Amino acid sequence: MELKAKKEQLLKILQGKIPEDVTLSTVEDCAPYGGDWTRLSGNPLLVFLPKSTEQVALILKSCNDLKIPVIPSGGRTGLSGGAVVTQSEVVLNLSRMNRISPVDILGRTVRVQSGAVTEVVHEHCAKEGLFWPIDLASKGTSEVGGNLSTNAGGVRVIRYGMVRKWVSGLQIVMMNGNVIELNRGLEKNNTGYDLIQLMVGAEGTLAVITEATLKLVRLPQKEQALFFALSSLESIRKLFEKARRGPFEILAFEFFSQRCLTAVETKLNRRSKLESAGEFYVLMEIELGLGQESQVLLEQWLEEVLEADFVKDGLLAQSSVERREIWGLREGITESIALTSEVRKYDTSVAVSNTVGFLKEAEALFGSMKLGADLYVFGHFGDGSPHLNVVKQDTGDHKTFMEDCDRFEKELYPLIKKWGGSASSEHGVGLLKKSWVEMSRSPEEMALFRAIKAAFDPNHLLNPGKIFD
Ligand code: MLT
Ligand code: ZN
Repeated sequence: MELKAKKEQLLKILQGKIPEDVTLSTVEDCAPYGGDWTRLSGNPLLVFLPKSTEQVALILKSCNDLKIPVIPSGGRTGLSGGAVVTQSEVVLNLSRMNRISPVDILGRTVRVQSGAVTEVVHEHCAKEGLFWPIDLASKGTSEVGGNLSTNAGGVRVIRYGMVRKWVSGLQIVMMNGNVIELNRGLEKNNTGYDLIQLMVGAEGTLAVITEATLKLVRLPQKEQALFFALSSLESIRKLFEKARRGPFEILAFEFFSQRCLTAVETKLNRRSKLESAGEFYVLMEIELGLGQESQVLLEQWLEEVLEADFVKDGLLAQSSVERREIWGLREGITESIALTSEVRKYDTSVAVSNTVGFLKEAEALFGSMKLGADLYVFGHFGDGSPHLNVVKQDTGDHKTFMEDCDRFEKELYPLIKKWGGSASSEHGVGLLKKSWVEMSRSPEEMALFRAIKAAFDPNHLLNPGKIFD
């Protein structure tokens, strides 16, 4: 059956079974749901904005019967094209399913629907002194379903790990309309395969997540932010080593280059309060022990660091406003780069101890290729997860930029492989990194991937063409 005829059929099947406002069908209404933060986009066949699991099940089953492909989506803050429409698929957007239940104090969990916005979950749990420890620059827009589907990371992975550690129950809907509860929020359950962990990071290719039981921790009690200017990558490594031995728990250890800071200062009009500039900057957030002594120990530690030859300048935020200002520099990088020009993102990952070695070679490689682009380096130093952003120079044109990026990544991916790393630390594979997956997984692993996909979605209709073909 032709696509147009299938669309008519689908609308007919669903007529009277779901409220009218669940369906968007005009090109203009559907268009915003065709893309994500990569700026890639396509035209959806239809968009559904369900309000309940029953509606999700009915829509999926109907699409399955008609063999219509479906893309699940949420806040669409992805950076790998995981929610991008490529062949007029139906988009199933879960943003309206955003209910958050009361916190379960005894179990230290909270049950939420997929469309709950990350920051709203934080605010809800903070009332009980608790925290879902996933902290992303996109937290004001990203949704729990997307966080889970991409196994998101963010700025606190060094302390808490990735999303997959913070979920103990999922409700999923299969493409055939079956609704399944996974693990029911149990802390302990050793009865075979862990299907939750299969769903986390599956980028919506296996089933649609509709609800999740999230695990919580106590909110950090005494947080402090420190900000440093440094002259080299090697200096960042020295500071990190010193911090690892410091009298505190590290909650975040983020870095960025002077080029990133300049972009934030010029595009977003924010300012660094450091007196000296550096080649690189580090934002470190820590949790201190309670009591006066921990503050005294921190100040002693800071004094030693500021006297060391590897730090050019540094400060300890003196108020929550100052802390927010420093975070504003780090969190503004993605937006200010996007405001600068076209960008190609590389979300790399190496062992933490290899971060400097890998980055030096990646920078040297970029420099040697003399592309009409600039390299912006920032990210999660303490997780071995630097982001390399290649940004077009004003003088260049789009086509040359794309060719330059293609040339660069042909060299970059083998370099990542040489360092034993991964081409996606936290953004997922989506459309943009498929070739890398095929390159870095063995044929046996790819065969297992395909068998798992076939077990969940035998008609290959859920988010087709994402992660692998
Ligand atoms: C970040 O670390 O700010 C995010 O991963 C977004 C990005 O890489 O642009
Ligand atoms: Zn990141």
